Amino acid sequence: MSITVSRSHEASPISRGAFLRGASVAAAGIAAVSLTGCTSGQPPETSTSTGSTVTSPQTTHRVLLAYFSRAGENYWYGDRTFLETGNTHRLAEMIGDRIDCDTYRIEAAQPYSERYDPTVERNTEEQDDDARPAIANPVPDLSGYDTVLLGSPIWNVQPPMIMATFVEAAGLSGKRVLPFVTYAVSGLGSTSSFYRDLNSGAQLGEGLAVRGEEVSAAGGDLDQWLRATGLTSAESR
Ligand SMILES: Cc1cc2nc3c(=O)[nH]c(=O)nc-3n(C[C@H](O)[C@H](O)[C@H](O)COP(=O)(O)O)c2cc1C
Repeated sequence: MSITVSRSHEASPISRGAFLRGASVAAAGIAAVSLTGCTSGQPPETSTSTGSTVTSPQTTHRVLLAYFSRAGENYWYGDRTFLETGNTHRLAEMIGDRIDCDTYRIEAAQPYSERYDPTVERNTEEQDDDARPAIANPVPDLSGYDTVLLGSPIWNVQPPMIMATFVEAAGLSGKRVLPFVTYAVSGLGSTSSFYRDLNSGAQLGEGLAVRGEEVSAAGGDLDQWLRATGLTSAESR
């Protein structure tokens, strides 16, 4: 089975309409989750007023991996399946196993349905409204990071609108941002222009797209991307 990996292109083999249906609402807001070290030991934890666990970036950690992923019913080789763990979540874990970074999971304040069709409908409305769906807790301080890996599924040929919430809340000016996505058929879709149009002041680098069904087999392509972006050295993998 081949792994489809594409880099920093805007091509989209399907139309947006293929994933369009229905409606729902998006609340704006900012969020937070726990921040964990990807490799070796966990950084020290501190409690926030919201009760969430946030850890301070260590001086040795210059890379933040921030991702959104939704478990539940999803597309699977033209059919549907129920994912206990989202595809992007699994890809993020593979990245975390390979590089020294902190991980921040973006979680929606109003969780997305576990069912596929209502999620498509809600996303359609959020895109139509240019919404900023609220994140569950405040985003971490990114001042200690120079590179941010931004991971998400592709929803209607672009990242979910909650990624815009994160970008605008995080303050990415001057950061190097490397997007990675999982998808069914669209590759990166319009990921690059989505992030570029947010005018965050970030320097957008090479993206990685992995087909959701093939995440487990994507280690080789992931290694290649990490080398190409300088996140691992040529001899490390
Ligand atoms: C609301 C919704 C919209 C989607 N739209 C697209 C799309 O336009 N193009 C595509 O290739 N895949 C699309 N997919 C499939 C997901 O991108 C794919 O299954 C991805 O790997 C899911 O990642 P996750 O499990 O981390 O959420 C969509 C899935 C959902 C739930």
